[in-house]
Amino acid sequence: MKHFVVLLSATLTTIAAFKATSQNLTAVSCTISKYNADDILSAQNECDEIIIESINVPAGVTLDLTHLKTGSKLVFKGTIQWEYEEWTGPLMRIKGTNVEVIGSDGHVLDGRGHLWWDGQGGNGGKTKPKFLYASVVNSMIHKLNIKNTPVQAFSVNGCKDSIIQYITIDDKDGDSKGGHNTDAFNVNSSDNVTIKHCTIHNQDDCMAMNSGYNTFFTDNYCSGGHGISIGSVGNGAEVKGVKVTNCQVVDSDIGVRIKTRSGETGSVSDVLYENIELKNIHKYGIDIQGDYGPNDGKPTDGVPITDFTLKNIYGTVDTGGANIYVVVANAADWHWSDIKITGGEKKVNCTGIPPGTGVSC
Ligand SMILES: *[C@@H]1O[C@H](CO)[C@@H](O)[C@H](O)[C@H]1NC(C)=O
Ligand SMILES: *[C@@H]1O[C@H](CO)[C@@H](O)[C@H](O)[C@H]1NC(C)=O
Ligand SMILES: *[C@@H]1O[C@H](CO)[C@@H](O)[C@H](O)[C@H]1NC(C)=O
Ligand SMILES: *[C@@H]1O[C@H](CO)[C@@H](O)[C@H](O)[C@H]1NC(C)=O
Repeated sequence: MKHFVVLLSATLTTIAAFKATSQNLTAVSCTISKYNADDILSAQNECDEIIIESINVPAGVTLDLTHLKTGSKLVFKGTIQWEYEEWTGPLMRIKGTNVEVIGSDGHVLDGRGHLWWDGQGGNGGKTKPKFLYASVVNSMIHKLNIKNTPVQAFSVNGCKDSIIQYITIDDKDGDSKGGHNTDAFNVNSSDNVTIKHCTIHNQDDCMAMNSGYNTFFTDNYCSGGHGISIGSVGNGAEVKGVKVTNCQVVDSDIGVRIKTRSGETGSVSDVLYENIELKNIHKYGIDIQGDYGPNDGKPTDGVPITDFTLKNIYGTVDTGGANIYVVVANAADWHWSDIKITGGEKKVNCTGIPPGTGVSC
């Protein structure tokens, strides 16, 4: 059982705290209910539990939660929102070891993306801030309700041995208001991160693993976007150990995807996608391409895709799309079974599938 005590501090004007029934005066809970960078920093240094409640973060400022005490808890309550400015962000950073980050019922982290959306995402138009960079170790981030991110939502950046679960990323408004490149999860330089029980509606990758080891993406629902992806991989990056299981991808351009870049180096290995349901996929049910980048159509051998298993991938592609599309070079050790994707009638080029894979397209 945790005990809480009132912390009296001149700088922490917004503190509300509980007093424990016993005399154990060790753990401190602090509430931040108005944005003040100094208060937010001292709360991280001094408090075992920080509640961030209904604040407006000023324009051009990162809500900086990178000084969380080891073992502390961070709670979001009410509506947290960010003022508008053209900049690259991120709007929020979280860093810590052994921390728990949780959203309480009814809270929302509102990026107010519609103020930036112009249909161009990261490719032009307004400069748009990324939403969240998280770098946690041995931690749990859960029950966050993220809404309307200007561009990429959740960057899993240098995380280790952590669980991210029950996250909602709702960028649905972007469908009609010009949301673009609103990737849900980008995973980078991380090891042993589990992302599960998440519900996503966006306009780009549901997950994109760009580098690192052992990502477990499980029991997630992806809609509106570009599917569950590895890459694009190049520039020397290594992706090893990706297990995507028990997910649904609906109303999306692509279902399952690996992209590696033509003319570059790197590697993708030890990949499993199993029990993936696809529904109303517009372009490709399965899309494995080694020709990503300006050299479209010309895969090179610098980023081999090896030890790649697909098992029980099923569902429907629109008539104008293709069920399976593969353009790779230097691939080996693929094991595909129970691929039951129907509907796509587009004729595509399939090149580089290793012999004995058990599938053709
Ligand atoms: C107070 O709580 C801390 C942490 O929960 C514990 O380690 C410590 O033994 C407790 N002290 C007393 C006097 O109960
Ligand atoms: C990848 O993560 C590291 C932190 O481990 C960070 O410094 C770097 O900028 C990230 N790269 C990208 C492309 O996000
Ligand atoms: C991976 O992380 C989980 C916690 O998320 C931990 O329980 C597990 O021991 C870690 N696995 C390894 C091999 O370190
Ligand atoms: C199919 O791919 C091969 C290898 O990249 C290429 O040489 C060929 O032109 C392609 N054919 C079509 C019809 O796109």
